[in-house]
Amino acid sequence: MTFLELAAKRYSLRKFSDQPVEEAKILQLLEAARLAPSAVNYQPCHFIVVTEQELKSRISEGYSQEWFAKAPVVIVACGNHSTSWKRRDGKDHANIDVAIAVDHLTLAAVELGLGTCWVCAFDAKHVHRVLELPDHLEAIALIPLGYPASDQVPLRKRKELTELVSWNGYHL
Ligand SMILES: Cc1cc2nc3c(=O)[nH]c(=O)nc-3n(C[C@H](O)[C@H](O)[C@H](O)COP(=O)(O)O)c2cc1C
Repeated sequence: MTFLELAAKRYSLRKFSDQPVEEAKILQLLEAARLAPSAVNYQPCHFIVVTEQELKSRISEGYSQEWFAKAPVVIVACGNHSTSWKRRDGKDHANIDVAIAVDHLTLAAVELGLGTCWVCAFDAKHVHRVLELPDHLEAIALIPLGYPASDQVPLRKRKELTELVSWNGYHL
């Protein structure tokens, strides 16, 4: 599979089979995340791997997204605001660094036959409390992970390149 084929194969999986995910595969995905670049190489990411059903259910509460508690694994991707790079104008790069690492992870999952879905619509304060995170750590994305319940792949719509790109200045 070429990189473009792999990127095209990834989709947001929201129905998971009960088949457990092998720990070796979870570690492979985390390794892909670990290899991601980060601003000034500060590596402000932290990943909490949640496999306990009660904990998955609790972190899914409050945003009508309880579906993701049915995934065998939920990875909580956190950004450490005390170690992330801040640009001179104050812009904190934790979100960007976490997003790159999560993207590595979700693409690596495709190669292993696993599916994922980004979940950012969640009650961040509630998750912070439930996981007893320290103040400097922010749960940025929740990533349910597992094998697909079926081999039906949803249609994915994307804008045309012409709508996304302009060369040598902004003009549409
Ligand atoms: C930053 C981000 C946040 C997202 N949050 C949610 C979410 O809270 N719930 C959900 O069901 N999907 C969520 N998604 C998935 C998007 O809806 C999905 O990526 C988009 O519709 C494109 O579909 P595809 O991933 O199947 O290609 C999120 C995606 C991204 C990148």
